[in-house]
Amino acid sequence: MKKILFVCLGNICRSPMAEALFRQRITETGQKDQFQVDSAGTSDWEEGNPPHPQTRLTLQNHNVSTANLISRPVTTDDFYKFDVIIGMDHKNVQDLEELRPKDSTAKIYLFMSVLPTHSNADVPDPWYTHKFEAAYQQIAAGIDEWVTFLTAHNE
Ligand code: 4NP
Repeated sequence: MKKILFVCLGNICRSPMAEALFRQRITETGQKDQFQVDSAGTSDWEEGNPPHPQTRLTLQNHNVSTANLISRPVTTDDFYKFDVIIGMDHKNVQDLEELRPKDSTAKIYLFMSVLPTHSNADVPDPWYTHKFEAAYQQIAAGIDEWVTFLTAHNE
């Protein structure tokens, strides 16, 4: 069982999209039992809240379930509990590196780095850009690569 945590700033836009899409893909490919997936925020600003209304609308437009997505902040335990923690932009990754206990075991990655081009790009924050569909398309492309990568590699 591989344990994967997607992380953004508020945990109401990008990382819940990634969690929901990852869950849908592994269900479609019959790999549901091989993964545990969750998402969290580097801040606690939206703690307890469901995804942003535009996140929910975008996921619903693509027939992706929005069930059980409630914002929570990253905890110290996450760095031991999860095998892989994936930040949606460079600031998320930087914050995760600062939060991680020295002896923790999780590997931290930038979301877009998994692309065959090893992209160094951020997933721009739709909270600021209002481009929820663009974020969805970028995340959907990345998710397929993450499922492939995590299936092939013993992270
Ligand atoms: P997210 O977007 O990190 O993709 O969930 C944001 C959500 C909320 C806030 C900022 C970014 N906020 O300032 O509350």
